[in-house]
Amino acid sequence: MRLSSFGKRFTSHAGILDLMKDLGQALATAERVYMMGGGNPSYIPEVQQRFRASMERILQEEGVFERMIGNYAPPQGEMEFIRALADLLRREYGWPIGPENIALTNGSQNAFFFLFNMFAGVFPDGSSKKILFPLTPEYIGYADVGLSDNFFVTTRPEITFVDDHTFKYHIDFDALPIGEDVGAICVSRPTNPTGNVLTDEEVQRLSALAHQLDVPLILDNAYGTPFPHIIFREVTPFWDDHVILLMSLSKLGLPGPRTGIIIAREDVIQGITALNAITNLTPNSVGAYLARELVASGEIIELSRDVIRPYYQRKAEQALEWVHEALDDLPFYVHVPEGAFFLWLWFKDLPITSRELYNRLKEERVIVVPGEYFFPGFEGEWAHMYECIRMNYAQDEETVRTGIRLLSQVVHRVYEHGK
Ligand SMILES: Cc1ncc(COP(=O)(O)O)c(C=O)c1O
Repeated sequence: MRLSSFGKRFTSHAGILDLMKDLGQALATAERVYMMGGGNPSYIPEVQQRFRASMERILQEEGVFERMIGNYAPPQGEMEFIRALADLLRREYGWPIGPENIALTNGSQNAFFFLFNMFAGVFPDGSSKKILFPLTPEYIGYADVGLSDNFFVTTRPEITFVDDHTFKYHIDFDALPIGEDVGAICVSRPTNPTGNVLTDEEVQRLSALAHQLDVPLILDNAYGTPFPHIIFREVTPFWDDHVILLMSLSKLGLPGPRTGIIIAREDVIQGITALNAITNLTPNSVGAYLARELVASGEIIELSRDVIRPYYQRKAEQALEWVHEALDDLPFYVHVPEGAFFLWLWFKDLPITSRELYNRLKEERVIVVPGEYFFPGFEGEWAHMYECIRMNYAQDEETVRTGIRLLSQVVHRVYEHGK
């Protein structure tokens, strides 16, 4: 095989790569770009100030900085942070967990690669298993992590209309493709790209289903509770013996130090620890150092609930107002934003695909993400997949407001010209 063909084994999976390249270019360029793609969190001054203070303490205290940069952490991850987090979760929610139930990874994206390939794919006895996504659309970052083909399975959601321009997806429990070959169930809560937040009852139903199938329920809590708590409705933090809860420090405002957190049964944690050692020797510990006091004191919960959540809720309400002003004369719907920091826009009967719309917006220096990337495992044709886009509203007001204005001009032209 030639060198160029080796490279293509990975670059042909375009979705997440395009997304991250657009993000990197937009953040690096001097030209004005209306960046509403990617998953970058906001710079929230109060949060950044906490992490700055934390770094200053690390620099001042005798030997701490030297240990942070000078030591490999154990392959399970930085233990002081892990112990503090286990204590916090036991204390606050009564979960029967200890440090043996937690491992760190280089971002939760890395954890999904490990977990999906642990529970699905082709096994040594020749059997194969799949990851079931009970709800679609679902996070773009899942799409390419399977090491074999036909890795995912999902089905259409139910759609309800909240008002003339607002809709919501629901899990269609009766239609779930539950076969012998389901290796794990996975759902993001809040959901990226839609901002949907499964109710406690829906999570209980999924948990019961996972129990019945004797498979893990992987709950992707990247935006969830108790931190960063970018959730605008009441929900209860949830963990159980067969739940693998994935958390992250990224959306709290720390995507740089790449810190994913897995909370699971001890045997799963041992598997992850082995995978960390094999692929990375040890995960990054800078995020754990920066956040461990916030975790030990429990302040991370208040910071999330009292600062981060209201901050994004205000931004969601503002962005929503602007999209309605700009687009409500069109056959346009937005998914109810219940969490995370995205608006999922649906242009019914759009004359071009979402990917073509993305290209036209890019010409105007507006970056969004085409909706069709967010249907991993979905088979069959469904026009809806090509009629949606995801926009991130975490950037500054001027970017989001002008981005929406330019988006509206482009979409109006597309409907007017029918192409
Ligand atoms: C739903 C969801 N899960 C997981 C991740 C991965 O985040 P990280 O690897 O930074 O922890 C993201 C990032 O955008 C996400 O949106």
